[in-house]
Amino acid sequence: MTHTASLRIGLFGFGTVGQGLYDVLQRTPLLRTEIARICVRDRFKQRSAPARLLTFDRDEILDDPDIDVVVELIDDPDAAFDIVSRALESGKAAVSANKRMIASRLPELLELQSRTGMPFLYEASTCGSIPIIRNLEEYYDNDLLRSVRAIVNGTTNYILTALHSPHTGGYGEALAGAQRLGFAESDPTLDVEGYDAAFKTTIIAAHAFGVVLNPSQVVRRGITAITPYDVSVARQLTCSIKLLSTVQLHGDSLSVMALPAFTPNGLHLASIQNEMNAVQLTAAFSDAQLLVGKGAGGGPTASAVLSDIAAIRHTYRYEYKKMQQPVRPTVDHGIEVSVYVRASAAILREVPFRSIEVDHRGITGSYVIGRIVLDDLHRCSAFLDPSVFIAIVHDG
Ligand code: NAP
Ligand code: HSE
Repeated sequence: MTHTASLRIGLFGFGTVGQGLYDVLQRTPLLRTEIARICVRDRFKQRSAPARLLTFDRDEILDDPDIDVVVELIDDPDAAFDIVSRALESGKAAVSANKRMIASRLPELLELQSRTGMPFLYEASTCGSIPIIRNLEEYYDNDLLRSVRAIVNGTTNYILTALHSPHTGGYGEALAGAQRLGFAESDPTLDVEGYDAAFKTTIIAAHAFGVVLNPSQVVRRGITAITPYDVSVARQLTCSIKLLSTVQLHGDSLSVMALPAFTPNGLHLASIQNEMNAVQLTAAFSDAQLLVGKGAGGGPTASAVLSDIAAIRHTYRYEYKKMQQPVRPTVDHGIEVSVYVRASAAILREVPFRSIEVDHRGITGSYVIGRIVLDDLHRCSAFLDPSVFIAIVHDG
């Protein structure tokens, strides 16, 4: 592949993002990129791409020596891993948006990149159109990063925005809206239970601090148990509820969470609406910075894929520089955090609070705001009850 030759792409998936990429590439001829083949699963779906481009056999792309780049935009993580690994093994560059696959199989993907020498880029996997991974790799290579706090899931932010608005319907209607608009995962449990945020948090931890985690190490909760009562308590405290991913350095150790949070309305993150995402970075020299952009949807996500394709043309690859550092932080969830827990009196008794700041028992709801060790929050079986809603209480 030379800088002047047309880049030939084998595309896997033609859903929200795949179709978005197809449309974006029609409008960016200067990139000199050609979609040579599109592999999909369903033979009977109507497509906006010409039938001559379609195939249902992945080998027609993976075994084609004239295809330079495999762009994987499917919703099946196991098949996605097979596609990416075969692409790299056969000397093709690969691009993916599949955060579940990347977060869950990062050690294998690192080994594959190192052994084959082929680039594997995945800017679209985390925060849609916000260029966060390359910024963490390049811009924040030398500044001393202290924390990344972010809204990384568009679907839950869309639902939470609706729940805070007096003029919209409830949770179910908002989720259906996010699905209709193409923001939600094929299995929306991944969004609303915080798994998608945990995958993205895992990817951020790798590029921000050089720490390779299993996504199950991220302290995670979702928003499925939220009720108007929780929103009203947050409002009384002049907060908005957001699902926040936080990767934070404490000396030599790192805490990693994806949790609902009472976010003070004076903070920028509290004002991020609908499917928008935002990443707040705090570093020793640059201090605090905020990146904001659309976190989901065909066009915005395709824009990040487009940027990876352009980067491959310029022979860019991730160097994972922070993983080369002699000392890397280790995950330690021994820190105390302040948390709101709305639950029955029986469940509240089981929560291992270190101290209690507010203990409210009422006819419409009971809750406690107290201090808890993050590791206890991660493991406490009382929180597995589906009626319990918990949220970190941020003090700024
Ligand atoms: P989608 O709309 O559900 O489309 C999925 C596509 O994958 C469909 O075209 C489907 O084929 C195809 N597919 C599934 N398994 C396949 C297989 N084994 N071989 C070939 N094609 C296969 O999904 P999406 O929203 O575009 O998401 C795609 C990926 O991007 C996912 O990993 C998602 O997490 C990620 N992502 C999505 C967004 C977003 O806003 N939607 C943003 C960032 C990242 P058929 O058309 O034949 O069914
Ligand atoms: N389902 C994801 C979201 C898509 O809502 O953020 C973007 O990764």
